[in-house]
Amino acid sequence: MNKPHAVAPKLRLDPLSDDDAGLPASRPVPVSAAAPTVTPLKAEAAAPARPPVVPDYLKRVYTWAYLTPAYSRYLDTSLVVSAILWGNANRLMRAGFSEFAAGQTVLQPACVYGQFSRKLAEVLGPKGALHVTDVAPNQVDACRDKLAGFPSARVGLADAADPRDRQYDGVCCFFLLHEVPEDYKRRIVRNLLEATRPGGKAVFVDYHGPHWAHPLRPIMILVWRLLEPYALALSDHEIASYAPSELAGQFSWHKETYFGGLYQKVVARRQA
Ligand SMILES: C[S@@+](CC[C@H](N)C(=O)[O-])C[C@H]1O[C@@H](n2cnc3c(N)ncnc32)[C@H](O)[C@@H]1O
Repeated sequence: MNKPHAVAPKLRLDPLSDDDAGLPASRPVPVSAAAPTVTPLKAEAAAPARPPVVPDYLKRVYTWAYLTPAYSRYLDTSLVVSAILWGNANRLMRAGFSEFAAGQTVLQPACVYGQFSRKLAEVLGPKGALHVTDVAPNQVDACRDKLAGFPSARVGLADAADPRDRQYDGVCCFFLLHEVPEDYKRRIVRNLLEATRPGGKAVFVDYHGPHWAHPLRPIMILVWRLLEPYALALSDHEIASYAPSELAGQFSWHKETYFGGLYQKVVARRQA
């Protein structure tokens, strides 16, 4: 059964133009409470974007998984995603998608293998918009191909740790945080919260510390130690704790856990 918790806020190498998703903003500025659906955070004309550099941690830890197109071809399937998540992929995707509605504009700050982006684009429908970004050029290319039949979806190159130049109705961050070092977790959470408009939601679905008696706990700890060194931190840090406390205080936080606590969904709703 899912466990709801209230979380105290203790707490192709072509960068997109300003009309597209995820351009790192040089200078974010505050937004009024009456912000429209997608609010530019800066009024300047589109400036040439500096393509983000592939971060060192990604090269060091995940080259085999994300930066080697020959392997990605085999890994980028729903079956692989389902196996990695012990058969919970559809359930976790549904949990994330249930937070969004047709007609909304949503940012997905990193690609996900399988059909995740297509399904999210379907939830948002032709009147909504999905903006997907990723820091790895080959992942951007693959996602563009997957979303070719969705005119309302855009895919571009951006580091999730760089500030966005606009705000969204929602942000859907699926299994990204466990793959990044602690300083990146802080930057990503802050940027994604800042990219959420007043009244909108930032949704994080990711690993969580499993119950001490969970039969998969020893296996997962071994997998994290060997293959995913930044995942262990999510066992004892609330996602809300990665946000600066002043920003976290502008959101109401709600956490649900799944599959014996191995996974979590955290919904941060920005006060209108
Ligand atoms: C979101 S995670 C999803 C992992 C999950 N196991 C799956 O099924 O795909 C993987 C993606 O995150 C991307 N990524 C890693 N660090 C990033 C960052 N700082 N900014 C944007 N994308 C990043 C990787 O390039 C990769 O495409």
